[in-house]
Amino acid sequence: MVNGSTEALAAVVAAALMVGVAVATTASSTPSKPEGSLDIAQLGARGDGKTDSTKFIMQAWKYACAATGTQKIVIPPGNYLTGALALSGPCTSDIIIRLDGNLLGTGDLSAYKTNWIEVMRVNNFAINGHGTIDGQGPLVWKNNECHKSYNCKILPNSLVLDYVTNATIRGVTLLNSKFFHMNIFQSKNVLVDKVTITAPGNSPNTDGIHIGDSTNVTIAATSIATGDDCISIGPGSKTIRIHGVRCGPGHGISVGSLGRYKDEKDVEDVAVTDCSLHGTTNGLRIKSYEDSKSQLKATKFVYDGITMDNVSYPIIIDQKYCPNNICSKSGNSKVTVTDIVFKNIVGTSATPEAVTLNCANNLPCEGIQMHNVNVKYNGVHNTTMAVCRNVHGKTSGVAKELACL
Ligand SMILES: *[C@@H]1O[C@H](CO)[C@@H](O)[C@H](O)[C@H]1NC(C)=O
Ligand SMILES: *[C@@H]1O[C@H](CO)[C@@H](O)[C@H](O)[C@H]1NC(C)=O
Ligand SMILES: *[C@@H]1O[C@H](CO)[C@@H](O)[C@H](O)[C@H]1NC(C)=O
Ligand SMILES: *[C@@H]1O[C@H](CO)[C@@H](O)[C@H](O)[C@H]1NC(C)=O
Repeated sequence: MVNGSTEALAAVVAAALMVGVAVATTASSTPSKPEGSLDIAQLGARGDGKTDSTKFIMQAWKYACAATGTQKIVIPPGNYLTGALALSGPCTSDIIIRLDGNLLGTGDLSAYKTNWIEVMRVNNFAINGHGTIDGQGPLVWKNNECHKSYNCKILPNSLVLDYVTNATIRGVTLLNSKFFHMNIFQSKNVLVDKVTITAPGNSPNTDGIHIGDSTNVTIAATSIATGDDCISIGPGSKTIRIHGVRCGPGHGISVGSLGRYKDEKDVEDVAVTDCSLHGTTNGLRIKSYEDSKSQLKATKFVYDGITMDNVSYPIIIDQKYCPNNICSKSGNSKVTVTDIVFKNIVGTSATPEAVTLNCANNLPCEGIQMHNVNVKYNGVHNTTMAVCRNVHGKTSGVAKELACL
Protein backbone atom coordinates (compact mmCIF):
# COMPACT_ATOMS: atom_id res chain seq x y z
CA MET A 1 0.00 0.00 0.00
CA VAL A 2 1.01 3.52 -0.47
CA ASN A 3 2.17 4.36 3.03
CA GLY A 4 3.38 0.81 3.52
CA SER A 5 2.03 0.23 7.02
CA THR A 6 0.63 -3.18 7.87
CA GLU A 7 -2.39 -1.56 9.53
CA ALA A 8 -3.27 0.36 6.41
CA LEU A 9 -2.86 -2.77 4.34
CA ALA A 10 -5.09 -4.74 6.69
CA ALA A 11 -7.73 -1.99 6.63
CA VAL A 12 -7.82 -1.93 2.85
CA VAL A 13 -7.97 -5.72 2.65
CA ALA A 14 -10.87 -5.65 5.12
CA ALA A 15 -12.61 -2.96 3.09
CA ALA A 16 -12.11 -4.96 -0.10
CA LEU A 17 -13.53 -8.05 1.59
CA MET A 18 -16.57 -6.09 2.74
CA VAL A 19 -17.16 -4.88 -0.79
CA GLY A 20 -16.80 -8.48 -1.93
CA VAL A 21 -19.42 -9.62 0.57
CA ALA A 22 -21.79 -6.80 -0.36
CA VAL A 23 -21.57 -7.71 -4.03
CA ALA A 24 -21.92 -11.41 -3.33
CA THR A 25 -25.10 -10.95 -1.35
CA THR A 26 -26.72 -8.84 -4.05
CA ALA A 27 -25.33 -10.67 -7.07
CA SER A 28 -28.23 -13.13 -7.26
CA SER A 29 -30.68 -10.28 -7.76
CA THR A 30 -29.78 -7.23 -9.84
CA PRO A 31 -26.89 -5.57 -8.03
CA SER A 32 -27.69 -2.08 -6.86
CA LYS A 33 -25.56 0.54 -8.54
CA PRO A 34 -23.08 2.20 -6.18
CA GLU A 35 -23.89 5.78 -5.26
CA GLY A 36 -23.32 7.97 -8.30
CA SER A 37 -21.99 5.98 -11.20
CA LEU A 38 -19.02 3.93 -12.26
CA ASP A 39 -17.01 7.12 -12.51
CA ILE A 40 -14.32 6.45 -9.92
CA ALA A 41 -14.13 10.12 -8.90
CA GLN A 42 -17.84 10.01 -8.07
CA LEU A 43 -17.21 6.87 -6.02
CA GLY A 44 -14.68 8.84 -3.95
CA ALA A 45 -11.32 8.43 -5.69
CA ARG A 46 -9.09 11.50 -5.59
CA GLY A 47 -6.99 12.26 -8.63
CA ASP A 48 -4.33 14.09 -6.67
CA GLY A 49 -1.52 11.63 -7.45
CA LYS A 50 -1.12 10.86 -3.74
CA THR A 51 -4.28 9.29 -2.36
CA ASP A 52 -4.69 5.55 -2.89
CA SER A 53 -7.57 4.91 -5.33
CA THR A 54 -7.33 1.10 -5.36
CA LYS A 55 -10.51 0.43 -3.42
CA PHE A 56 -12.66 2.71 -5.59
CA ILE A 57 -11.54 1.04 -8.79
CA MET A 58 -12.09 -2.39 -7.25
CA GLN A 59 -15.55 -1.31 -6.10
CA ALA A 60 -16.43 -0.18 -9.64
CA TRP A 61 -15.03 -3.43 -11.08
CA LYS A 62 -17.00 -5.63 -8.68
CA TYR A 63 -20.23 -3.85 -9.48
CA ALA A 64 -19.61 -3.88 -13.24
CA CYS A 65 -18.58 -7.54 -13.29
CA ALA A 66 -21.70 -8.69 -11.45
CA ALA A 67 -24.06 -6.65 -13.62
CA THR A 68 -25.32 -7.45 -17.12
CA GLY A 69 -25.11 -5.77 -20.53
CA THR A 70 -22.19 -3.45 -21.22
CA GLN A 71 -20.78 -1.66 -18.18
CA LYS A 72 -18.50 1.33 -18.42
CA ILE A 73 -16.00 2.26 -15.72
CA VAL A 74 -14.80 5.82 -16.11
CA ILE A 75 -11.42 7.06 -14.94
CA PRO A 76 -11.76 10.80 -15.45
CA PRO A 77 -8.89 13.28 -15.89
CA GLY A 78 -6.59 13.29 -12.86
CA ASN A 79 -3.76 11.17 -11.47
CA TYR A 80 -4.97 8.10 -9.63
CA LEU A 81 -2.42 6.27 -7.52
CA THR A 82 -3.10 2.56 -7.02
CA GLY A 83 -1.64 -0.73 -5.86
CA ALA A 84 -2.49 -4.08 -7.47
CA LEU A 85 -5.74 -4.08 -9.43
CA ALA A 86 -6.99 -7.66 -9.73
CA LEU A 87 -9.70 -7.28 -12.35
CA SER A 88 -10.96 -10.84 -12.23
CA GLY A 89 -13.91 -12.59 -13.80
CA PRO A 90 -15.86 -14.46 -14.79
CA CYS A 91 -18.23 -11.52 -15.27
CA THR A 92 -21.85 -11.52 -16.38
CA SER A 93 -21.36 -8.26 -18.30
CA ASP A 94 -19.05 -6.88 -20.97
CA ILE A 95 -16.80 -4.19 -19.46
CA ILE A 96 -15.26 -1.08 -20.96
CA ILE A 97 -12.78 0.94 -18.95
CA ARG A 98 -12.71 4.49 -20.25
CA LEU A 99 -9.32 5.91 -19.33
CA ASP A 100 -9.22 9.68 -19.63
CA GLY A 101 -7.00 10.21 -16.62
CA ASN A 102 -3.75 8.61 -15.57
CA LEU A 103 -3.24 5.55 -13.42
CA LEU A 104 -0.03 5.58 -11.37
CA GLY A 105 1.31 2.30 -9.99
CA THR A 106 2.63 2.85 -6.49
CA GLY A 107 6.36 2.43 -5.93
CA ASP A 108 5.61 0.44 -2.77
CA LEU A 109 6.28 -3.13 -3.94
CA SER A 110 4.41 -4.64 -0.98
CA ALA A 111 1.21 -3.44 -2.67
CA TYR A 112 1.57 -6.12 -5.40
CA LYS A 113 1.55 -9.92 -5.50
CA THR A 114 2.84 -10.31 -9.05
CA ASN A 115 1.34 -7.79 -11.45
CA TRP A 116 -0.13 -4.34 -11.33
CA ILE A 117 -3.30 -4.36 -13.50
CA GLU A 118 -4.27 -7.97 -14.09
CA VAL A 119 -7.36 -8.79 -16.13
CA MET A 120 -8.11 -12.44 -15.47
CA ARG A 121 -10.76 -14.77 -16.97
CA VAL A 122 -12.76 -11.97 -18.52
CA ASN A 123 -14.43 -12.00 -21.95
CA ASN A 124 -15.45 -9.02 -24.07
CA PHE A 125 -13.35 -6.39 -22.38
CA ALA A 126 -11.90 -3.07 -23.53
CA ILE A 127 -9.72 -0.27 -22.28
CA ASN A 128 -9.87 2.88 -24.35
CA GLY A 129 -9.20 6.58 -24.06
CA HIS A 130 -6.21 8.85 -24.12
CA GLY A 131 -5.00 8.41 -20.58
CA THR A 132 -1.76 6.89 -19.33
CA ILE A 133 -0.95 3.73 -17.44
CA ASP A 134 2.18 4.91 -15.65
CA GLY A 135 4.13 2.12 -13.94
CA GLN A 136 6.44 4.62 -12.22
CA GLY A 137 9.33 2.27 -12.98
CA PRO A 138 12.03 4.82 -12.08
CA LEU A 139 11.06 4.34 -8.41
CA VAL A 140 12.00 0.63 -8.47
CA TRP A 141 14.24 -0.19 -11.46
CA LYS A 142 17.20 -0.28 -9.08
CA ASN A 143 15.55 -3.36 -7.44
CA ASN A 144 15.71 -5.31 -10.74
CA GLU A 145 18.40 -7.99 -10.49
CA CYS A 146 17.43 -10.00 -13.54
CA HIS A 147 20.62 -9.04 -15.36
CA LYS A 148 22.64 -10.53 -12.49
CA SER A 149 20.64 -13.53 -11.39
CA TYR A 150 18.58 -16.05 -13.32
CA ASN A 151 16.04 -16.67 -10.57
CA CYS A 152 15.53 -13.01 -9.85
CA LYS A 153 12.39 -11.65 -8.25
CA ILE A 154 10.31 -10.27 -11.09
CA LEU A 155 8.91 -6.77 -10.66
CA PRO A 156 5.20 -6.17 -11.48
CA ASN A 157 4.15 -6.09 -15.12
CA SER A 158 1.89 -3.12 -15.85
CA LEU A 159 -1.06 -4.57 -17.80
CA VAL A 160 -1.65 -8.31 -17.95
CA LEU A 161 -4.37 -10.19 -19.80
CA ASP A 162 -4.68 -13.77 -18.53
CA TYR A 163 -7.31 -16.15 -19.98
CA VAL A 164 -9.10 -13.28 -21.72
CA THR A 165 -11.20 -13.69 -24.89
CA ASN A 166 -12.17 -10.71 -27.06
CA ALA A 167 -10.26 -7.73 -25.74
CA THR A 168 -9.36 -4.35 -27.20
CA ILE A 169 -6.76 -1.98 -25.79
CA ARG A 170 -7.00 1.24 -27.77
CA GLY A 171 -5.58 4.76 -27.70
CA VAL A 172 -3.92 4.68 -24.30
CA THR A 173 -0.26 5.21 -23.37
CA LEU A 174 1.76 2.82 -21.24
CA LEU A 175 4.67 4.59 -19.60
CA ASN A 176 7.69 3.38 -17.61
CA SER A 177 6.51 -0.05 -16.54
CA LYS A 178 8.37 -1.68 -13.66
CA PHE A 179 8.83 -4.85 -15.77
CA PHE A 180 6.90 -5.64 -19.02
CA HIS A 181 4.38 -3.02 -20.17
CA MET A 182 1.88 -5.62 -21.41
CA ASN A 183 1.76 -9.39 -21.04
CA ILE A 184 -0.87 -11.31 -23.01
CA PHE A 185 -1.12 -14.89 -21.77
CA GLN A 186 -3.57 -17.72 -22.60
CA SER A 187 -5.79 -15.22 -24.39
CA LYS A 188 -7.72 -15.11 -27.68
CA ASN A 189 -8.87 -12.42 -30.08
CA VAL A 190 -6.94 -9.49 -28.66
CA LEU A 191 -6.51 -6.18 -30.48
CA VAL A 192 -3.95 -3.59 -29.40
CA ASP A 193 -4.59 -0.51 -31.52
CA LYS A 194 -3.08 2.99 -31.57
CA VAL A 195 -1.26 2.47 -28.31
CA THR A 196 1.95 4.26 -27.30
CA ILE A 197 4.49 2.51 -25.10
CA THR A 198 7.43 4.50 -23.75
CA ALA A 199 10.33 3.85 -21.38
CA PRO A 200 14.00 4.85 -21.53
CA GLY A 201 16.23 2.77 -23.81
CA ASN A 202 18.36 1.76 -20.82
CA SER A 203 15.55 0.71 -18.46
CA PRO A 204 15.74 -2.98 -17.39
CA ASN A 205 13.34 -5.62 -18.83
CA THR A 206 10.75 -3.04 -19.85
CA ASP A 207 9.52 -5.10 -22.83
CA GLY A 208 6.68 -3.48 -24.73
CA ILE A 209 4.26 -6.33 -25.37
CA HIS A 210 4.88 -10.00 -24.61
CA ILE A 211 2.54 -12.62 -26.06
CA GLY A 212 2.50 -16.24 -24.90
CA ASP A 213 0.13 -19.21 -25.36
CA SER A 214 -2.32 -16.94 -27.15
CA THR A 215 -4.20 -17.04 -30.47
CA ASN A 216 -5.31 -14.29 -32.81
CA VAL A 217 -3.53 -11.29 -31.35
CA THR A 218 -3.26 -8.15 -33.49
CA ILE A 219 -1.01 -5.19 -32.72
CA ALA A 220 -1.71 -2.27 -35.06
CA ALA A 221 -0.67 1.37 -35.45
CA THR A 222 1.33 1.25 -32.24
CA SER A 223 4.54 3.01 -31.29
CA ILE A 224 6.92 1.30 -28.89
CA ALA A 225 10.16 2.68 -27.39
CA THR A 226 11.56 0.64 -24.50
CA GLY A 227 14.63 -0.85 -22.86
CA ASP A 228 13.98 -4.41 -24.10
CA ASP A 229 12.01 -6.15 -26.87
CA CYS A 230 9.34 -3.93 -28.44
CA ILE A 231 7.27 -7.05 -29.02
CA SER A 232 8.21 -10.56 -27.98
CA ILE A 233 6.28 -13.60 -29.11
CA GLY A 234 6.74 -16.59 -26.86
CA PRO A 235 5.87 -20.28 -27.13
CA GLY A 236 2.27 -21.26 -27.91
CA SER A 237 1.50 -18.13 -29.96
CA LYS A 238 -0.65 -18.65 -33.08
CA THR A 239 -2.09 -16.27 -35.66
CA ILE A 240 -0.24 -13.15 -34.57
CA ARG A 241 -0.65 -10.02 -36.74
CA ILE A 242 1.64 -7.04 -36.27
CA HIS A 243 1.26 -4.10 -38.59
CA GLY A 244 1.99 -0.40 -38.58
CA VAL A 245 4.27 -0.69 -35.57
CA ARG A 246 7.13 1.73 -34.99
CA CYS A 247 9.82 0.28 -32.73
CA GLY A 248 12.85 1.96 -31.21
CA PRO A 249 14.80 2.29 -29.11
CA GLY A 250 14.58 -1.31 -27.94
CA HIS A 251 15.55 -4.83 -28.86
CA GLY A 252 13.23 -5.19 -31.84
CA ILE A 253 10.42 -7.61 -32.71
CA SER A 254 11.38 -11.03 -31.41
CA VAL A 255 10.06 -14.55 -31.49
CA GLY A 256 11.48 -16.34 -28.47
CA SER A 257 13.32 -17.22 -26.54
CA LEU A 258 12.07 -20.71 -27.45
CA GLY A 259 13.08 -23.93 -25.74
CA ARG A 260 13.91 -22.56 -22.34
CA TYR A 261 11.26 -24.60 -20.51
CA LYS A 262 9.67 -28.05 -20.87
CA ASP A 263 6.35 -28.54 -22.70
CA GLU A 264 6.47 -25.41 -24.80
CA LYS A 265 4.05 -25.28 -27.74
CA ASP A 266 4.70 -24.27 -31.37
CA VAL A 267 4.76 -20.71 -32.64
CA GLU A 268 2.82 -20.65 -35.89
CA ASP A 269 1.43 -18.17 -38.39
CA VAL A 270 3.04 -14.84 -37.54
CA ALA A 271 2.79 -11.88 -39.95
CA VAL A 272 4.75 -8.70 -39.35
CA THR A 273 3.95 -6.14 -42.05
CA ASP A 274 4.53 -2.43 -42.68
CA CYS A 275 6.66 -1.78 -39.63
CA SER A 276 9.77 0.29 -38.98
CA LEU A 277 12.65 -0.18 -36.57
CA HIS A 278 14.84 2.69 -35.42
CA GLY A 279 18.21 2.27 -33.70
CA THR A 280 17.24 -1.06 -32.18
CA THR A 281 19.76 -3.76 -31.28
CA ASN A 282 17.86 -6.35 -33.31
CA GLY A 283 15.26 -5.95 -36.02
CA LEU A 284 13.39 -9.15 -36.79
CA ARG A 285 14.70 -11.92 -34.58
CA ILE A 286 13.90 -15.59 -33.96
CA LYS A 287 15.89 -17.09 -31.14
CA SER A 288 15.93 -20.49 -29.50
CA TYR A 289 18.12 -22.11 -26.87
CA GLU A 290 21.02 -24.18 -28.04
CA ASP A 291 20.11 -26.92 -25.55
CA SER A 292 16.32 -26.61 -25.76
CA LYS A 293 14.29 -28.27 -23.01
CA SER A 294 11.30 -28.95 -25.25
CA GLN A 295 10.67 -29.92 -28.83
CA LEU A 296 8.66 -27.40 -30.83
CA LYS A 297 8.35 -25.66 -34.18
CA ALA A 298 8.59 -22.04 -35.27
CA THR A 299 6.85 -22.00 -38.63
CA LYS A 300 4.86 -19.99 -41.18
CA PHE A 301 6.17 -16.50 -40.51
CA VAL A 302 6.00 -13.63 -43.01
CA TYR A 303 7.91 -10.38 -42.58
CA ASP A 304 6.88 -7.96 -45.34
CA GLY A 305 7.43 -4.25 -45.84
CA ILE A 306 9.90 -3.45 -43.07
CA THR A 307 12.15 -0.38 -42.88
CA MET A 308 15.36 -0.63 -40.87
CA ASP A 309 16.95 2.57 -39.63
CA ASN A 310 20.41 1.95 -38.14
CA VAL A 311 19.49 -1.42 -36.62
CA SER A 312 22.43 -3.42 -35.26
CA TYR A 313 21.22 -6.87 -36.44
CA PRO A 314 18.28 -6.29 -38.80
CA ILE A 315 17.48 -9.91 -39.70
CA ILE A 316 18.57 -12.56 -37.26
CA ILE A 317 17.72 -16.20 -36.67
CA ASP A 318 19.72 -17.55 -33.75
CA GLN A 319 19.21 -21.22 -32.98
CA LYS A 320 22.24 -21.21 -30.72
CA TYR A 321 21.03 -18.73 -28.14
CA CYS A 322 22.75 -19.26 -24.82
CA PRO A 323 22.94 -16.14 -22.66
CA ASN A 324 25.66 -16.10 -19.99
CA ASN A 325 26.80 -19.57 -21.14
CA ILE A 326 24.13 -21.30 -19.10
CA CYS A 327 23.62 -24.09 -21.64
CA SER A 328 24.72 -27.57 -20.64
CA LYS A 329 25.18 -29.04 -24.10
CA SER A 330 25.58 -27.62 -27.56
CA GLY A 331 24.39 -29.11 -30.86
CA ASN A 332 21.18 -30.30 -29.26
CA SER A 333 18.56 -27.97 -30.68
CA LYS A 334 15.00 -29.30 -30.67
CA VAL A 335 13.37 -26.14 -32.03
CA THR A 336 12.58 -26.55 -35.75
CA VAL A 337 12.60 -23.30 -37.76
CA THR A 338 10.84 -23.66 -41.14
CA ASP A 339 8.91 -21.66 -43.72
CA ILE A 340 10.02 -18.12 -42.88
CA VAL A 341 9.65 -15.39 -45.53
CA PHE A 342 11.50 -12.06 -45.43
CA LYS A 343 10.39 -9.70 -48.18
CA ASN A 344 10.57 -6.02 -49.05
CA ILE A 345 13.02 -5.19 -46.30
CA VAL A 346 15.12 -2.08 -46.81
CA GLY A 347 17.21 0.43 -44.89
CA THR A 348 20.41 0.55 -42.90
CA SER A 349 22.24 -1.50 -40.30
CA ALA A 350 24.59 -0.25 -37.58
CA THR A 351 26.86 -3.32 -37.87
CA PRO A 352 28.12 -4.99 -41.07
CA GLU A 353 25.99 -8.08 -40.34
CA ALA A 354 22.72 -7.09 -42.00
CA VAL A 355 21.64 -10.74 -42.19
CA THR A 356 22.52 -13.37 -39.58
CA LEU A 357 21.06 -16.84 -40.02
CA ASN A 358 22.79 -18.95 -37.40
CA CYS A 359 21.06 -22.32 -37.41
CA ALA A 360 21.94 -25.51 -35.58
CA ASN A 361 24.12 -28.21 -37.14
CA ASN A 362 21.77 -30.93 -35.98
CA LEU A 363 18.60 -29.14 -37.13
CA PRO A 364 19.17 -26.74 -40.06
CA CYS A 365 16.60 -24.02 -40.83
CA GLU A 366 14.53 -25.04 -43.88
CA GLY A 367 12.34 -23.10 -46.29
CA ILE A 368 13.81 -19.70 -45.51
CA GLN A 369 13.04 -17.16 -48.25
CA MET A 370 14.38 -13.68 -48.88
CA HIS A 371 12.85 -11.50 -51.59
CA ASN A 372 13.75 -7.86 -52.20
CA VAL A 373 15.94 -7.54 -49.16
CA ASN A 374 18.33 -4.63 -49.35
CA VAL A 375 19.82 -3.39 -46.10
CA LYS A 376 23.12 -1.51 -46.12
CA TYR A 377 25.72 -1.04 -43.41
CA ASN A 378 25.82 2.68 -42.64
CA GLY A 379 29.33 2.70 -41.15
CA VAL A 380 32.74 2.93 -42.74
CA HIS A 381 35.79 0.62 -42.89
CA ASN A 382 33.69 -2.49 -43.56
CA THR A 383 31.04 -3.80 -45.95
CA THR A 384 27.55 -5.16 -45.58
CA MET A 385 27.48 -8.92 -45.14
CA ALA A 386 25.36 -11.96 -44.39
CA VAL A 387 26.56 -14.59 -41.95
CA CYS A 388 24.71 -17.84 -42.58
CA ARG A 389 25.15 -21.35 -41.19
CA ASN A 390 23.04 -24.46 -41.71
CA VAL A 391 20.26 -22.69 -43.53
CA HIS A 392 18.36 -23.70 -46.69
CA GLY A 393 15.92 -21.82 -48.86
CA LYS A 394 15.85 -19.38 -51.74
CA THR A 395 16.30 -15.72 -52.58
CA SER A 396 15.25 -13.30 -55.31
CA GLY A 397 15.97 -9.61 -55.77
CA VAL A 398 18.39 -9.62 -52.86
CA ALA A 399 21.60 -7.52 -52.74
CA LYS A 400 24.28 -10.03 -53.74
CA GLU A 401 26.29 -9.69 -50.55
CA LEU A 402 23.19 -10.73 -48.61
CA ALA A 403 22.06 -13.61 -50.83
CA CYS A 404 23.52 -16.41 -48.72
CA LEU A 405 20.80 -19.02 -49.32
C1 LIG B 1 -16.03 -13.31 -28.81
O1 LIG B 1 -16.60 -12.48 -29.80
C2 LIG B 1 -17.29 -13.22 -30.79
C3 LIG B 1 -17.67 -12.25 -31.90
O2 LIG B 1 -18.28 -11.12 -31.37
C4 LIG B 1 -18.49 -13.90 -30.14
O3 LIG B 1 -19.19 -14.66 -31.10
C5 LIG B 1 -17.98 -14.83 -29.05
O4 LIG B 1 -19.09 -15.40 -28.34
C6 LIG B 1 -17.13 -14.06 -28.05
N1 LIG B 1 -16.50 -15.02 -27.13
C7 LIG B 1 -16.75 -15.01 -25.84
C8 LIG B 1 -16.06 -16.07 -25.04
O5 LIG B 1 -17.52 -14.22 -25.30
C1 LIG C 1 -9.52 -12.27 -34.32
O1 LIG C 1 -9.51 -11.14 -33.48
C2 LIG C 1 -10.14 -10.00 -34.06
C3 LIG C 1 -9.94 -8.86 -33.09
O2 LIG C 1 -8.61 -8.43 -33.21
C4 LIG C 1 -11.61 -10.31 -34.30
O3 LIG C 1 -12.22 -9.20 -34.93
C5 LIG C 1 -11.73 -11.53 -35.20
O4 LIG C 1 -13.07 -11.89 -35.32
C6 LIG C 1 -10.96 -12.69 -34.58
N1 LIG C 1 -10.96 -13.81 -35.51
C7 LIG C 1 -11.45 -14.98 -35.18
C8 LIG C 1 -11.33 -16.07 -36.21
O5 LIG C 1 -11.97 -15.21 -34.10
C1 LIG D 1 23.78 4.04 -35.28
O1 LIG D 1 23.72 3.39 -34.02
C2 LIG D 1 24.96 3.38 -33.34
C3 LIG D 1 24.78 2.61 -32.05
O2 LIG D 1 23.99 1.50 -32.21
C4 LIG D 1 25.42 4.79 -33.07
O3 LIG D 1 26.67 4.75 -32.44
C5 LIG D 1 25.51 5.56 -34.38
O4 LIG D 1 25.80 6.90 -34.11
C6 LIG D 1 24.19 5.48 -35.14
N1 LIG D 1 24.38 6.04 -36.46
C7 LIG D 1 23.49 6.87 -37.01
C8 LIG D 1 23.81 7.31 -38.41
O5 LIG D 1 22.49 7.22 -36.44
C1 LIG E 1 33.89 -6.43 -40.58
O1 LIG E 1 32.76 -6.89 -39.82
C2 LIG E 1 32.82 -8.28 -39.49
C3 LIG E 1 31.49 -8.66 -38.87
O2 LIG E 1 31.14 -7.80 -37.83
C4 LIG E 1 33.99 -8.52 -38.57
O3 LIG E 1 34.08 -9.88 -38.24
C5 LIG E 1 35.27 -8.07 -39.28
O4 LIG E 1 36.36 -8.19 -38.41
C6 LIG E 1 35.16 -6.61 -39.76
N1 LIG E 1 36.30 -6.27 -40.58
C7 LIG E 1 37.00 -5.16 -40.38
C8 LIG E 1 38.09 -4.89 -41.37
O5 LIG E 1 36.76 -4.38 -39.47
